[in-house]
Amino acid sequence: MYCVRKVTDDLYWVGANDHRLHLFENIHPIPKGVSYNSYVLMDEKTVLFDTVDWSVCREFIENVKHVLDGRDLDYMVINHMEPDHGASVEEVLMHFPNVKIISTERSFMIMRQFGFNVDGREIEVKEGDTMKFGKHEILFVEAPMVHWPEAMVSFDTTNGVLFAADAFGTFGALDGKLFADEVNFDRDWLDDARRYYTNIVGKYGTFVQDLLKKAGTIDIKMICPLHGPVWREDLGYLIEKYDKWSRYEPEEEGVLIVYASMYGNTEHAAQALASKLCERGMTNVHVYDVSNTHVSTLISETFRFSHIVLASVTYNLEIYPIMYNYLHEMKLLNVQNRTVALMENGSWAPTSGGLMAEFLDEEMKLMDVLGTDMSISSALKETDEKDLDSLADAIIDSMKKEK
Ligand SMILES: Cc1cc2nc3c(=O)[nH]c(=O)nc-3n(C[C@H](O)[C@H](O)[C@H](O)COP(=O)(O)O)c2cc1C
Ligand SMILES: [Fe+2]
Ligand SMILES: [Fe+2]
Repeated sequence: MYCVRKVTDDLYWVGANDHRLHLFENIHPIPKGVSYNSYVLMDEKTVLFDTVDWSVCREFIENVKHVLDGRDLDYMVINHMEPDHGASVEEVLMHFPNVKIISTERSFMIMRQFGFNVDGREIEVKEGDTMKFGKHEILFVEAPMVHWPEAMVSFDTTNGVLFAADAFGTFGALDGKLFADEVNFDRDWLDDARRYYTNIVGKYGTFVQDLLKKAGTIDIKMICPLHGPVWREDLGYLIEKYDKWSRYEPEEEGVLIVYASMYGNTEHAAQALASKLCERGMTNVHVYDVSNTHVSTLISETFRFSHIVLASVTYNLEIYPIMYNYLHEMKLLNVQNRTVALMENGSWAPTSGGLMAEFLDEEMKLMDVLGTDMSISSALKETDEKDLDSLADAIIDSMKKEK
């Protein structure tokens, strides 16, 4: 039985949803599932845009055949060859032996690396090339490193539909609701969209900026991404988010407090600081235990807020390993342009504060570390209160300066 949805008069969603996969890329938890989107255009020629993950290939082929309704598949456009989209290329070739593949040179190289025999079927396209399939003309735009080097996006100049590959995607299964205007995106989807973008594409902000500049020159009326809902209204909402994220600009003025604590004393200090910030009127404060929160969520929240407090115990003269891993992920994903305050704890030789400051200064870009680092000797005492107050004051003052 097929499961398809109509996108426009002659464009159909033929993708699939996946609630069984726990970890996307075997690393990021997806408690709300994920969708692999694929689209069929029914013009004088029939055109498939991207395929799906291998796990949902059978239902995908059934969907494609249902929409084709006996017609042959003439073309398959591959915008992105990562296996969550490209894994079913070979299966499409088997079911539709006459199909020609439209993609970039690098993408054909990757198809061959994965062992797909695409000889004689390639139509190689470059930046700015166009192809007409009847009523619809498609413009191909290279989008390197969004999210792999071979990536491109395809733009239907006839009706303004952008096939955006991994750009503008999100975690979360569609469960029937294909369009962003059929869900409460801001309430139910934004956190997952941010977590998807920041962890999957976050490192490549400058490439996303390049793509956004190109997108600014075409009249986009609809965005069809490879994951998550299709956008046909309020496109500016999502484009603005992408613009902020890819410039590493915080979305909100607020404080993210991430602590590493074994016996609860550093946790207590983090809570005491959160209270002091709220007392000073800054209530957009969010506290996370580094050991209990998946790092993909921490990264997403890091992209979201303007200020970060890192509170870590000292562990064998080092930063607590899980806190170190979070710092390392921040560096890998190019996090920059944040104000950071530090708290350390230790019972005999506290070193974590200095080491975190060194990491932020030497390994990362544009991280403004506030100069009032706080050191706790095992447990927070009343004599520490003035340090806690000055830390809270320094955070509030830096917010005033930014205004
Ligand atoms: C395996 C291990 C290694 C530690 N290494 C250090 C250290 O190198 N220097 C230090 O001052 N404290 C060290 N500590 C002590 C903790 O950092 C200290 O007790 C801290 O106050 C714990 O805070 P918490 O209650 O937030 O877990 C170590 C503790 C453990 C369990
Ligand atoms: Fe991808
Ligand atoms: Fe993807």
